[in-house]
Amino acid sequence: MGLIFNFFIHKLDNSEKGECLMVSVEDIKTITVVGAGTMGHGIAEVAAMSGFKVYLADISDDILNNALGKIKWSLSKLSEKGQLRESVETIMSRITPVVNLKDGNYTEEFAKVISQSDFIIEAIPERIDLKQQLFKFLDQHAPKHAILATNTSSLPISEIAAATGRPEKVVGMHFFNPPPLMPLVEIIKGDKTSDETVSVVYDLAKKFGKQPVVVKKDVPGFIVNRILGRFLNEACWMVARGKASIIEVDSAVRYKLGFPMGAFELADYSGIDVFYLVFTAMVQRGMKMTGCPLFKEKFDKKEYGMKTGKGFYEYPAPGKYVRPNIPKDAGEKVDVVMLMAPAINEAAWLLENDVATMDDIDKAVMLGLGWPKGVFEYADEFGIDTVVNALKKLKEETGFEEYEPNKLLVKMVQEGRLGRKAGKGFREYRPVEEIAKETLLIRLEKPIAWIIFNRPDKLNAINDKLLKELSETLDELELNDEIRVVVLTGAGRAFSAGADVSSFVGITPIKAAIFSRKFQEVNLKIEYYTKPVIAALNGYTLGGGLEIAMSADFRIASETAVLGQPEIKLGIIPGAGGTQRLARLIGRSKAKELIFTGDYIPASEALKLGLVDKVVPPEKLEDEVRSFALKLAEMPPLAVMLAKYAINYGLETNIWAGLAIESSGFGLLFSTEDMAEGVTAFLEKRKPKFKGK
Ligand code: COA
Repeated sequence: MGLIFNFFIHKLDNSEKGECLMVSVEDIKTITVVGAGTMGHGIAEVAAMSGFKVYLADISDDILNNALGKIKWSLSKLSEKGQLRESVETIMSRITPVVNLKDGNYTEEFAKVISQSDFIIEAIPERIDLKQQLFKFLDQHAPKHAILATNTSSLPISEIAAATGRPEKVVGMHFFNPPPLMPLVEIIKGDKTSDETVSVVYDLAKKFGKQPVVVKKDVPGFIVNRILGRFLNEACWMVARGKASIIEVDSAVRYKLGFPMGAFELADYSGIDVFYLVFTAMVQRGMKMTGCPLFKEKFDKKEYGMKTGKGFYEYPAPGKYVRPNIPKDAGEKVDVVMLMAPAINEAAWLLENDVATMDDIDKAVMLGLGWPKGVFEYADEFGIDTVVNALKKLKEETGFEEYEPNKLLVKMVQEGRLGRKAGKGFREYRPVEEIAKETLLIRLEKPIAWIIFNRPDKLNAINDKLLKELSETLDELELNDEIRVVVLTGAGRAFSAGADVSSFVGITPIKAAIFSRKFQEVNLKIEYYTKPVIAALNGYTLGGGLEIAMSADFRIASETAVLGQPEIKLGIIPGAGGTQRLARLIGRSKAKELIFTGDYIPASEALKLGLVDKVVPPEKLEDEVRSFALKLAEMPPLAVMLAKYAINYGLETNIWAGLAIESSGFGLLFSTEDMAEGVTAFLEKRKPKFKGK
């Protein structure tokens, strides 16, 4: 009570002075983005898409016009893909360009704009003198409640904040390139940043439709660049030490680790100069990392990658991207534990020093780097002892201090927390057995079976093989009495992006109809499966992917999931039950709208439409699905099956048939041991143990 009272007085005091302190994200109406380069214009686009009035500031009209042109182009692309809920013009009309510097001085117009802004974020060049000068000016002109954020990836937040009289309101808000597409935002606390500021910026990132992670201490490189730095550096050292070739490493990274790009491919794609400068800045700020000479060599030769036409790979012309050809089996002999051990060691350091939580670190690598699994999940899978041994070996071979295994890892080994094989490591595990098929990974975690679509490099596109394996696996699991619930999900960033479009080339209408029919049969098998089926939608759930998901009993989606039936854009219609099940789930008109337009919708909208049952943060999806599956698994299997039949068949036929199924099922259940157990347990006031008999 006292606290609340004080709070109001405090607020009143300030508002009387016309300086109401910001208390929530709702107070943010106007945003200024300073710097209209790659990151700045992307951030302005994101803010305008989220409904904010945006000022975009830079030093000349030319730069600003160019930036506005790029925003418009990007919005039109999103609109073409059906990912905008408003017109390009409406969003553009929220952005006002402002020239902020003239003859070396900040303009009056800029000062006026700043005085009207509730949130200001800068993405100007990475020079501390420039940033401090800007923040001093912002501090002088911005309203007292305004938060000042920096998108820096390499400079200390606290040093930037020191130029202001409000360090508690200065925060790092680090977007990834390109901001409109990349879901991750790192929120960095400077030494004096207040918890309130962090929480407002966290909510703002959510309002932007992003996934924030909190970096509690201002360490160089934050989470993503530290882990990526270790990983790329090790990949590079592996080649520099003659242990493997560039192609071998990249093949192992893509096909054995399942990353979206090889290490060298990524360096070339994003720019070797960019990484070289960021990593050098991190080292200058105190991170112990011995830079691999190949990066410096390329940097000195100005062979930056795709943009210069040559990096680790060659490109047809500067700026013309052709994906390097990397054979799938080239990485066979590469030891991926050696490759990942320094990155895992870094993640352990972040955790040990309380820089971020385990969930946030895993979320950061999955959403910021597109890794199909969190870094701690890899560690647990490799085995913590194996990782520690790899680090020791690296240290022995090189003498580099930075390979010293982190205390946390050493302690885990001493305590027997060795990872998945021990049932506990960074996380806890139920005993599992894994079966890898060509396109699926089946994880038996009794009483749950996870069927994981496993073509992550193709966003789990569904081909004949996948359909066949899915159908066979369902049959096998149906006969396994120890499995009570089946979960369908995808490896990497998609549940499934739909039928494999490459197999459509040259296909005859009759073959297409047969494919459709086969796909429908698998979906019917899911819909009328004798055990409950949950679809865990971890990312893109499009076309055939959505049709599979709609056949399941439940759909639980990650906040990052994107759903849609885009077939119309290929000149076809959904062929695996989409026209039927979508209409049944969300009604005719909405189904028609999605199918006629091919629009994609985010998980939040799918929830409103009733297309998914629950939406959870990405790092919680697996746990959420597991606990729901375990709850279902405790129920009497025959009763669950008969309830499912009565509901599903009843809805497809008529109430009389439905009621007949219900009453015969009801009667039949009285003959089961489970019914006797249920009633006895009730009378004995204990939890029943159903056996499925
Ligand atoms: N069939 C075959 N391959 C597919 C696929 C599909 N349905 N969806 C994605 N892929 C492949 C891509 O071709 C690419 O392969 P490559 O690396 O060998 O070129 C890889 O998966 C990654 O996809 P990409 O398009 O590069 O990722 P993105 O993040 O830029 O875009 C999507 C993601 C989902 C928007 C985009 O992949 C897409 O539109 N997919 C097709 C969706 C569709 O129409 N489904 C219905 C089919 S009936």
